[in-house]
Amino acid sequence: MESLNNYLFKYKGYVFAKGETTGEYIDSLQHFEIRDGDVFLVTYPKSGTIWTQNIINLICEDAADKTKFPNNLEKMPWLEYREGRPDYSLRPSPRLFATHLTPTLMPPGLRDKRGKQIVYVLRNPKDNAVSYYHFSLVWAKLETPKNFEDFLQQYLAGNVGGSSWFDHVREWYSKRDQYSILFLSYEDMVMDLRTAVEKISKFLEKNLDDAAIAHIVEKATFKNMKKDPRANYEFIPGDRLLKPQFMRKGTVGDWKNTFTVAQNEMFDQIFKERMKNIPLHFIWDLDAKTN
Ligand code: PPS
Repeated sequence: MESLNNYLFKYKGYVFAKGETTGEYIDSLQHFEIRDGDVFLVTYPKSGTIWTQNIINLICEDAADKTKFPNNLEKMPWLEYREGRPDYSLRPSPRLFATHLTPTLMPPGLRDKRGKQIVYVLRNPKDNAVSYYHFSLVWAKLETPKNFEDFLQQYLAGNVGGSSWFDHVREWYSKRDQYSILFLSYEDMVMDLRTAVEKISKFLEKNLDDAAIAHIVEKATFKNMKKDPRANYEFIPGDRLLKPQFMRKGTVGDWKNTFTVAQNEMFDQIFKERMKNIPLHFIWDLDAKTN
């Protein structure tokens, strides 16, 4: 286990926030027993996790959920942060998990595809970096960046929780055939939320009628979710979240308000090199859609 700074440590090539988990617990996931029906939401941080978590939770909701789980985090906890939660092996099925882990650190039982489901959401890395920068300013357990340039250098070097965006996307995408996995993009979700909800419910084999889909879409809009105390993460205590900002802007192309021309050119160059041979298309803003 290598300490990167006061806030981060590296274990098996992946960067974690100190105090959130341990190498020992991460290793124990190699023996984590997967059940048919388990659902995993996988993202690089700041890619739309709590949004998709809300959608999946609504799709899988049963009548007792509201009394059983006070909020979305309790219904779909992060796989890698177990502290303070009952043993996951005691949880009734279907179990829902969110995670930012890479395939190597995930329970190996997920690999054989037998009805195990993974929803992977990716976001264009310029908006992702800007979102992550703002989050680092308000999350007490992360180093406060001096400025965006300083953060961007750390982000590009993979010295942030979740490691490198490039490695995360490349690794999951190149191993996709080993898993039962649905890839979605944050930008497609912004452009057409209804289609995204339909895709997820079909993938999870939930046969929802039009009214149920419309209800979920309504609950998952940025405006409505921001007001929803079960979903907006304002339940995180103030000593961890200095300002409630999980739901900040929720747009595509916000990077243009932050990146300088030079940062953008440098980023484009790195993106081109690191993403070559990965045929994923990214939407950088809603006017000029693809790269
Ligand atoms: S985390 O900390 O990794 O769980 O963060 P994550 O949830 O992955 O990403 C946070 C960003 O997702 C945006 N968000 C939404 N966008 C559109 N619609 C809805 N409903 C929604 N919910 C969350 C959130 O605003 C963060 O993006 P930014 O760009 O910072 O606004």
